[in-house]
Amino acid sequence: MHVVILGFPGAGKGTQTKFLAECLSVPSLSSGDLFRRHQREGTPLGQQVRTYVDSGLLVPDEITIAMILDEINSPSYSDGFVLDGFPRNVNQALELDRALDFAGMDIDCALLIDVTQEALADRLGKRLVCNRCQSIYHTEASPPRNSGLCDYCNGRLERRADDEPEALVRRLRAYQEESAPVVDFYARAGKLVKVDGTGTVERVRQRIKEAIICPATQDNRLSKPVH
Ligand code: AP5
Repeated sequence: MHVVILGFPGAGKGTQTKFLAECLSVPSLSSGDLFRRHQREGTPLGQQVRTYVDSGLLVPDEITIAMILDEINSPSYSDGFVLDGFPRNVNQALELDRALDFAGMDIDCALLIDVTQEALADRLGKRLVCNRCQSIYHTEASPPRNSGLCDYCNGRLERRADDEPEALVRRLRAYQEESAPVVDFYARAGKLVKVDGTGTVERVRQRIKEAIICPATQDNRLSKPVH
């Protein structure tokens, strides 16, 4: 089962990715988390991408595509994946298709989490992320049990550098110019499943469940894609 999750910055992709991956019994992978992990660990890749990520610009394709394809070619992803944050432009989508095709596989579903611009401002303005395990919080909608500390690993909760207004404007522009065409790309391929991303985390989770059937019924996990 190979799923990609699409949506505006702050739509709730990261929040729903792990849940969906568990539901489908496949691992999840987030390009943004991977970049931030490299940055935290001070790897050469982390240093190379820092300016792009922190200022809200897309990392060049030659770096991003190599990183993701290298990762998904590892045995951990042989049964599939839920990919969050990749592909981010049509070139990345084509390269992903090519790599999967080479292995005799295909993207089964592109899940679009659809939210209004007003919801995005609230979600990103109040987001906190664990600096150790990258768990995602919202100061009101999903606050940590102990202020400033991660419920899962006790790591410190921080705001992301690219949630600051200037970087956020660039991210929204990058989405509109480069990532919105990816939605059309999967719609044309008959693989797009659109879910209303407004309302509580639980409500959105429920809609995703209804749109993409969970492993209890192994034979037909996908709802009919919308065009
Ligand atoms: P990335 O990490 O992918 O950022 P993004 O796509 O901008 O998405 P976000 O992580 O900001 O939002 P999200 O949709 O995951 O929302 P979340 O679940 O956190 O990329 C970061 C950067 O890396 C890019 O700018 C680029 O530089 C680089 N990069 C990554 N991939 C790349 C690629 N393929 N090519 C090139 N460059 C790439 O939720 C947001 C907040 O809302 C949280 O506080 C959460 O608690 C809250 N929330 C979620 N759902 C709800 C709800 N239903 N109700 C209330 N609050 C909610």
